[in-house]
Amino acid sequence: MRPVDPQIAWTPYTVDLDREEFANRLHEALSVYVTAMDYPRGTEFHRAPMWTEHSTRPGWKAVGACAGQEDTVAPENSVAPVDTSAPLIGIAYGYRGSSDQWWHQQVLHGLRRSGRPQSEISAILDDYFELTELHVHPSGQGHRLGESLLRHLLRDRTERSVLLSTPEVYDEDNRAWRLYRRLGFQDVLRRFRFAGDSRPFAVLGRGLPL
Ligand SMILES: CC(C)(COP(=O)(O)OP(=O)(O)OC[C@H]1O[C@@H](n2cnc3c(N)ncnc32)[C@H](O)[C@@H]1OP(=O)(O)O)[C@@H](O)C(=O)NCCC(=O)NCCS
Repeated sequence: MRPVDPQIAWTPYTVDLDREEFANRLHEALSVYVTAMDYPRGTEFHRAPMWTEHSTRPGWKAVGACAGQEDTVAPENSVAPVDTSAPLIGIAYGYRGSSDQWWHQQVLHGLRRSGRPQSEISAILDDYFELTELHVHPSGQGHRLGESLLRHLLRDRTERSVLLSTPEVYDEDNRAWRLYRRLGFQDVLRRFRFAGDSRPFAVLGRGLPL
């Protein structure tokens, strides 16, 4: 990622990333992800094919946060970056949930095991947008950029609700939890373990529009 010069007044702005722009910026986006999640370097190489495959799914949409110089800041609701070389400091994407997807099947299994009636399970899983990834580079966190990305991503969605999964943390005490709670996300499943991952996760959701 091109370093952000601290001497210059940077104003972040969010933009749609179409498939081509997403592919062009995949390495940058994965670098933001690995740094934000504090994952070991190299994780991005495993994730690249998965993120690329995700971008082919129905209803896929991605939004980026760029660090723009104040005099080149894109107007609100911009669909293309003013400066395509502006450093990417945040990434969010998702797609329409569907019963042929692994995540959907895992959550369905969890909901059944929790004893929820089928009518309630259908209401949760019949028509949702899966928020798959949301990350802001640590240098840009805490300035409502995560909220801006989420609002931009969810703007104009036609699904009834949005669902996401996030690692459980003690007392819900991290920025992701505070952001989701502030925006009204409610518990769908708690302390849920996805196959192949020993960490407990929460599945959260809320109705749309946001
Ligand atoms: C989760 C994440 C995307 C949120 O992005 P962000 O830009 O930091 O989020 P926001 O600024 O919109 O909101 C979170 C913080 O801003 C604070 N905040 C936002 N608006 C506020 C306001 N008006 N008044 C007071 N506090 C406010 C929140 O309370 C929180 O701050 P804190 O942790 O210092 O208490 C980002 O922190 C991140 O990438 N984290 C690591 C990766 C991660 O966990 N991703 C999600 C995986 S599911």
